[in-house]
Amino acid sequence: MYRSHTCNQLQKTDIEKTVTLSGWVHRRRDHGGLIFIDLRDRYGLTQIVSDPEHNQTVHEQMNHLRSEYVIKITGKVRNRPNGMTNSQLSTGEIEILVDTLEILNEAITPPFEIDNEKNVNEEIRLQYRYLDIRRERMKNNLLRRHRFIKIVRDLCDEQNFVEIETPILIKGTPEGSREYIVPSRLYPGKFFVLPQSPQQLKQLLMVAGMDRYFQIARCFRDEDQRGDRQPEFTQLDMEMSFVDENDVMDTNEKIMLEVFKKMATNKTILKIPFPKLTWQEAMGRYGSDKPDLRFSMEIKDITAGVKEENFEIFQNVIKAGGVIKALKIKNGAKFSRKEIDTFIELAKTYGAKGLSYLIMTQEGPKSSLLKFLTDQGKSIIELTEAQTGDIIFIAADQFEVACTALGQIRLACGDYFKLRDPNILSFCWVTHFPLLEFSKEEQRYVAAHHPFTSPQEEDLPLLETAPGKVKAKAYDLALNGSEIAGGSIRIHKPELQRQIFKILGISPEDAERRFGHLLKAFQYGAPPHGGIAWGLDRIIMLLQDEPNIREVIAFPKDQKAKDLMTGAPTELPDEQIKEMNIKIA
Ligand code: AMO
Repeated sequence: MYRSHTCNQLQKTDIEKTVTLSGWVHRRRDHGGLIFIDLRDRYGLTQIVSDPEHNQTVHEQMNHLRSEYVIKITGKVRNRPNGMTNSQLSTGEIEILVDTLEILNEAITPPFEIDNEKNVNEEIRLQYRYLDIRRERMKNNLLRRHRFIKIVRDLCDEQNFVEIETPILIKGTPEGSREYIVPSRLYPGKFFVLPQSPQQLKQLLMVAGMDRYFQIARCFRDEDQRGDRQPEFTQLDMEMSFVDENDVMDTNEKIMLEVFKKMATNKTILKIPFPKLTWQEAMGRYGSDKPDLRFSMEIKDITAGVKEENFEIFQNVIKAGGVIKALKIKNGAKFSRKEIDTFIELAKTYGAKGLSYLIMTQEGPKSSLLKFLTDQGKSIIELTEAQTGDIIFIAADQFEVACTALGQIRLACGDYFKLRDPNILSFCWVTHFPLLEFSKEEQRYVAAHHPFTSPQEEDLPLLETAPGKVKAKAYDLALNGSEIAGGSIRIHKPELQRQIFKILGISPEDAERRFGHLLKAFQYGAPPHGGIAWGLDRIIMLLQDEPNIREVIAFPKDQKAKDLMTGAPTELPDEQIKEMNIKIA
């Protein structure tokens, strides 16, 4: 027997019991005659002590122990002496006087201290992830991740969802992201791909009559890395039959709220039910399709108010179908020139060209724009309700560009004024996304979500005449400015699906080749259906106040999509490559 108790279990009520514990040497203190060791396992710490007067052999063994040795001890639980108790520790009132000690394994000095949560270079942490997970932060993140997923699974089960696994080796049918490909040994020149999501398979499960499906699904996307992206990540993936957008959103809101109420007890959920904004509103008012609603600071459309101004830039933008947007920052007049420049530069990285500002000083408005405006910029000041001490940023551009630019300044000012409190959770739904986006590189429309998303019925006539104006039955859930889930009602009629493929520039032959299985299935009675997928890593990252999703994944890739612990990707032996019938260029 290796242990009778864990290292987090023993209490005053166990005094006088003889117990066996196993674990790692966390910390060792030599106090003259006595040696103290904090013994650690996943559950916690227990103090063990050797006394040469009690047992000389054990005392000598204790003397040889180093950090991270794995040991097994047997001894008697006793009270800690007066003044030596530790109220921070659940076992802090007792200690164990060791009778026997066995070294189960020795350890070389780890590359960083396990017993202290000091910052360690992330590269080293990823190389030695198995040691990093011994530390409190990673261990806690993984335990919380487990708990979160467990609760979600149970809630889905209660709501009649069935967990069904879908294959990892599937047919290459790009939905938007680049796919990881797997060569087939048995069929030279042919490939499987890894799913970027179980999208088509879950739709086929609806055709199969499963009605409510879910899966904790691993997804693979060969895309550029960012803090909230990984090449493989985990979704809570769901699909439901006979539903409209509100059915999917309501079901998910219920599950999301329950799990957050259980897990985020130290945080306040701002608005219940979650507000619903159309994409147009979210972009127009907050400059983002995943708005952070922890603070207001709304963007105003001042196009109508300034259209009479004889200012060429405004006039040209309006003529070209663009808008004039303004963002007033309360108390922003105190920004230094350098700070203002930083905000403007940030906005420019999002494509904004015409950006200016107006400062409300004690002596009146100041801006390089004033010479072009009537009445000292009165219309802009009135429309934004600006007062002395404020600053107004103004963007004149196409709708998305102007909104996004000011949206970025809004977030930066939210950070500046510390309005983005991590202890507040602010969810919101964003609906009515554009169905299509025009890709300048490819000179064609591409699906904004994926090609299976249903257009809004009232926009169907626009499909032929103005595809860019068609709105989708798509919805995202945003939390504190992050997109944490996204989904849509799907097309379930083969004719409409074919029409969309055509608009996307996919020929009927191509559609048949790539999506034939889906089109075929839809001919056998596909129910109306829709679904959603949660980005579980992102949600747990936010729950744990972590700065990126690597912190909540046991073995993540680094920012260059490499596994620093094993060194993957690596070369393979020539024979193995040959067997797969592939050649390295
Ligand atoms: P989508 O592509 O929007 O939808 O993904 C759903 C959610 O997954 C998270 N996410 C990611 N997390 C980490 N790393 C990534 N590379 C990454 N990409 C996406 C986001 C996102 O909101 N099949 C559809 C869902 C559906 O329509 O039902 C899909 O995958 O939080």
